[in-house]
Amino acid sequence: MKVGVIGCGYVGLVTAVGLTLRGHDVVAVDIDETRISQINQGKVPFHEPGIAEGLKICLQQKRLKASTKIESVKKCKVVFICVQTPPQKNGAINLQILEAACQNLLSIFTKYPMFRTIVIRSTVIPGTTDKFVTPIFQKKNSAKNHQTEIAVNPEFLREGSAFEDFLTPDRIVIGTNSEKARKLLAILYKPFDSTIIQTTPSTAELAKYTSNSLLATLISFSNEIARICEKTAGADIEDVLGIVHYDRRFKSLLNGILPPGILTYLKAGCGFGGSCLPKDLSALIAYANSVKEESLLLKAVENINNSQSIRIINMLKEALGDLRNKKISVLGVAFKGGTDDLRESPGLKIVDELLTRKVEVLIFDPLVNPLFIKGYEEKGAIIMPTLAEAVNSSDACIIASNAKEFHKLDNLCHKLKRHRMVIVDGRRILKIPKDKRQKYYAIGLSKVSASSSD
Ligand code: UGA
Repeated sequence: MKVGVIGCGYVGLVTAVGLTLRGHDVVAVDIDETRISQINQGKVPFHEPGIAEGLKICLQQKRLKASTKIESVKKCKVVFICVQTPPQKNGAINLQILEAACQNLLSIFTKYPMFRTIVIRSTVIPGTTDKFVTPIFQKKNSAKNHQTEIAVNPEFLREGSAFEDFLTPDRIVIGTNSEKARKLLAILYKPFDSTIIQTTPSTAELAKYTSNSLLATLISFSNEIARICEKTAGADIEDVLGIVHYDRRFKSLLNGILPPGILTYLKAGCGFGGSCLPKDLSALIAYANSVKEESLLLKAVENINNSQSIRIINMLKEALGDLRNKKISVLGVAFKGGTDDLRESPGLKIVDELLTRKVEVLIFDPLVNPLFIKGYEEKGAIIMPTLAEAVNSSDACIIASNAKEFHKLDNLCHKLKRHRMVIVDGRRILKIPKDKRQKYYAIGLSKVSASSSD
């Protein structure tokens, strides 16, 4: 099937490459000339495992083309819209980029009439497809000799494993009121061998927000319990949640040998970040507000997350006293390990906090290109070339992401003879024996002695 993809960010490009590998002929469009030229040369403009190899195959087979010209989708039966829907100041989503993409497509469709289906893959609040997108295409189309059907197909791709998630989806959700679109998309997705859930556009849209808001809620819930642990002598959030995880209702079908992936969100840390969870949570709160529902729980989830970086700074203060002129390494400034994405990164929030307190900040991240954080260098932070150099040059380390390199930080400290240095573990990834935790501070780990707790 001839497919167009508008927007070549991580969702758009993964969708374009994945559909090509599953047998479709794809044209991917983006207004960014540099990005398009990179893609046509087989270069992926962001870090995402597997996609570079996939892109190479697609280009060799000549079944994927990238272009800056929206006209190149004129013969496509299905056109996916994968443009960003950034937040406004009040948290509500901004639909300007989506609207521009729809208007540009409309002018092409009017010029080259045929039957097509538009698929909204950008994350949009409930009602957007019915009340915002559909009227754009139906208004002018009615007088023309062609028809545009509309569907929503939210993505459930995790950065760092987005390509694999696309090729082996856990669900494919198609929200549409059109029987024709439903049938066409079922054919398009046939090679994926996954459950296809057919529903209304609004349900599909809301399911996407609900999915991310649940993940955010689990994380903030864990962080709230972690705060209680910190004030309770002898308590450790890792053990507390570890016991909760044993509940038979959380076990997988494989006799509990493989814990369900959702439990990794029932874990305390320095907060959630990224381009999706924070944005989708605030958009859902704003949407609820717009339909006169106050989302008390979701607001609390957001508040807990927003204050998590301060908790880390407070732990550092507890360990070191006055922080001024201390050298602190922040390890991991991407929003999570396995990615170089800096958006809404808890690590960068910690860096900002430290810089305002006149601390000497050293930054190390195994995947982030130093050029992308040059602005922090200008603000006074120092970007370290290796983890060992960061450790060796600092008074304390904060683990802010779960990058695999940091899981063995303790061993590295021993090797470098820095085993007495203060570590604040914002991700609970180190396994330090209980009797060796004097300089180890961590989210949800009580430092309160039994005599002082009551
Ligand atoms: C998230 C969702 O997981 C995807 O299902 C969804 O499709 C995507 O948003 C999206 O809307 O496009 P992603 O932003 O890549 O994917 O992030 P996650 O892997 O969920 O991580 C989000 C935050 O949760 C991070 O700060 C991360 O450190 C934290 N996290 C992640 C955990 O605390 N535990 C985990 O097991 C994974």
